[in-house]
Amino acid sequence: MLRQTLIYLSKQQRLNDFVRTNWLASRFASRFVAGDTLDTAVAAVRALNTTGITATLDLLGESVRTQEEARAAVEGALSILAKIAAEKAPANMSIKLTQLGFDLDAAEFAAGIRRILDRAKQLGIFVRVDMEGSAHTQRTLDLFEKDLHPAYGDGIGIVIQAYLRRSAADIERLMAAKAKVRLCKGAYLEPPTVAFPAKREIAASYVALAQRLLASGQYHGIATHDPAIIAQVKAYAKEKGIAPARFEFQMLYGIRRDLQQGLRAEGYNVRVYVPFGTHWYPYFMRRLAESPSTLFFIPMSVLKEGIGR
Ligand code: FDA
Repeated sequence: MLRQTLIYLSKQQRLNDFVRTNWLASRFASRFVAGDTLDTAVAAVRALNTTGITATLDLLGESVRTQEEARAAVEGALSILAKIAAEKAPANMSIKLTQLGFDLDAAEFAAGIRRILDRAKQLGIFVRVDMEGSAHTQRTLDLFEKDLHPAYGDGIGIVIQAYLRRSAADIERLMAAKAKVRLCKGAYLEPPTVAFPAKREIAASYVALAQRLLASGQYHGIATHDPAIIAQVKAYAKEKGIAPARFEFQMLYGIRRDLQQGLRAEGYNVRVYVPFGTHWYPYFMRRLAESPSTLFFIPMSVLKEGIGR
């Protein structure tokens, strides 16, 4: 119920406008967000890399409502690519289609994403298309499977959400096409007709899909902080003789750093998703929804801040 409420609130524009400009709220968000600027994000990437962890840079933003916002997001993505290349940063990039105008003018959206992917290809930088709510799943997969993946091949990858009932069938098609997948549980509010409602079912789906990915021989991303799932993935890989270099674990900036470093120290590839920018509100609320205990720390920190000031 709390999760549902927080995800519902993540979509409220008025709250977004209010919270984004609130100093204290930005302080809390900084737990999950690597600053407002590309420079602060690249500094976070460098810090991660001191322990051998790589990164995925993500300019925060989604569901834009104007063409200007979409154009700004395209320019933002191009700046990330230029920065990664100029600094030889150990990072690739994620994009969200609704941030680039997926729901706005189709021709302009197509031109924008092509610009990004052409530049990424020139620079040799991998781009991952994040997966959003189920209203966009079919369109996202259609675009990826029919257009982007045939054009950009291994330079681009997609995300599959284990909570969706459809995902096993989607993965079969993607494996037949030799596509690169990031597997995650799924972060949006979905009805039980579309997504498994129980945590146990989501975990079972996740493990089955992860095994299918690992067995495919392609290089995939296993994106979770769930220690039980991670243990099962490691055990499966060992049992089948799949070397640690054949896949990577992926986690989010600021979450379970101990696990990130532990896996890296054990010799696994670890990539951390590093979001940055001022449009952090929906992302931050989804992270709160996954860890309602964090809500307890917010009033505690408010108190501390109050006492400290
Ligand atoms: P779960 O939520 O069960 O958490 C397992 C454990 O991790 C918790 O017990 C806790 O210890 C820790 N933890 C998890 N979240 C925490 C938090 N916010 N604060 C503190 N501790 C926390 N989703 C999506 O729909 N589309 C996408 O494109 C992506 N992309 C993506 C990339 C990467 C690299 C990751 C890691 C995740 C995503 N996600 C995503 C988000 C994903 O779907 C999911 O919502 C989160 O990863 C949380 O699920 P876990 O698998 O970590 O399990």
